[in-house]
Amino acid sequence: MLQSIDSTSQSQYIFINYALITVYSLLLIRRGEVKGAMRKEFLVFGSPLIGEEEIDEVVDTIRSGWLGTGPKTMRFEREFAEYLGVKHCMAVSSCTAALHLAMLAADIKRGDEVIVPAMTFCSTANAVIHAGARPVFVDIELPGMTMDPADVLRRITPRTRAILPVHFHGRPADMDALRTIAAKYNLLIIDDAAHAIETRYRGKKMGHLADATCFSFYITKNMTTVEGGMVATGRDDWAERIKVLALHGMSKDAWARYSDKGYRHYEVVEAGFKYNMTDIQASLGLHQLRRIEMNLTRREEIWRAYTAAFANLPLALPPSPLPTPATAATSLRSGPRRTRRLIATASCGSSTKETSAPACTTRPFTCIPSTGKPSGARREIIPMPRR
Ligand SMILES: Cc1ncc(COP(=O)(O)O)c(C=O)c1O
Repeated sequence: MLQSIDSTSQSQYIFINYALITVYSLLLIRRGEVKGAMRKEFLVFGSPLIGEEEIDEVVDTIRSGWLGTGPKTMRFEREFAEYLGVKHCMAVSSCTAALHLAMLAADIKRGDEVIVPAMTFCSTANAVIHAGARPVFVDIELPGMTMDPADVLRRITPRTRAILPVHFHGRPADMDALRTIAAKYNLLIIDDAAHAIETRYRGKKMGHLADATCFSFYITKNMTTVEGGMVATGRDDWAERIKVLALHGMSKDAWARYSDKGYRHYEVVEAGFKYNMTDIQASLGLHQLRRIEMNLTRREEIWRAYTAAFANLPLALPPSPLPTPATAATSLRSGPRRTRRLIATASCGSSTKETSAPACTTRPFTCIPSTGKPSGARREIIPMPRR
């Protein structure tokens, strides 16, 4: 599959980028958002939408005197669990931490193999390595860019313990196929839903399709706590173990230190990690969560505008991420960030060192990977600004 992408000529690729970014610039000019071809102000990569509610909540937390893990983190966990409709949610310091803890709760260890998609951020595979196991990469399917179930089948060995699908840019992986494979070969499923907080698969929210699901609240994600993550699971034993491991390996009674139930004696039952979320982070998360569906609706409007504007261009547009009766899927997480980067680069110079996107080396309006040779599905991605 990737071979056929590589055969696309580079000049065609540059032309497509040129055409799309020109169209986008014209749209902005028409809407009066820019006065000429160049932006005056620097486009900040991944700048989040922070409301007055978040600011007030952070100030309230600071004034309360309880800045670390405490009542607001617990409220955030409860509200996130209610949003997803899952039994347990544990707030942690990042999605990377969430994935690592999920691996350990699954008892994945040295000698085990975990199947991960080749198209993802490095932490998906790093979490497997941190657990002592070996990540086994499988190809992705286009156009969704999620794990190819046929390739998963080819990579299963007697050492395979789990499948780790990534719902890339919010498009859900083919969970029907992956769950069938997992059931047949007795494998666990741990979801990387870093991009997929609002994603629905056949009408179900994330957190219902895997043994554990991990979310990211990093600054560029659809909601942010600056840094932060969450593990959702319906399994009581996993929830308990993740809580213990996330806080130094201290027995679960240690969490009572953070509640109004007062101090309780606790034991350190194993060598855990310092992966807890603070109340300052949770203060942001509580209000970001309340706006998540509203922001999704806004991105859907933007999606429609781009789809209409590009309808007559000689391009293969990505399939609609909007829910249809057939797919009952999905969110519109689609990577707005990389086009923001292209435009920022074209207009103002490079704004980011994001490593998973090709490095723009020429200006204006062209994007050539630093190797000079585009590779893989990245060549196909022309993401759009979302505001
Ligand atoms: C697919 C994927 N998984 C995991 C992560 C890691 O998230 P965090 O930065 O919260 O550890 C990211 C971050 O960009 C990601 O894109």
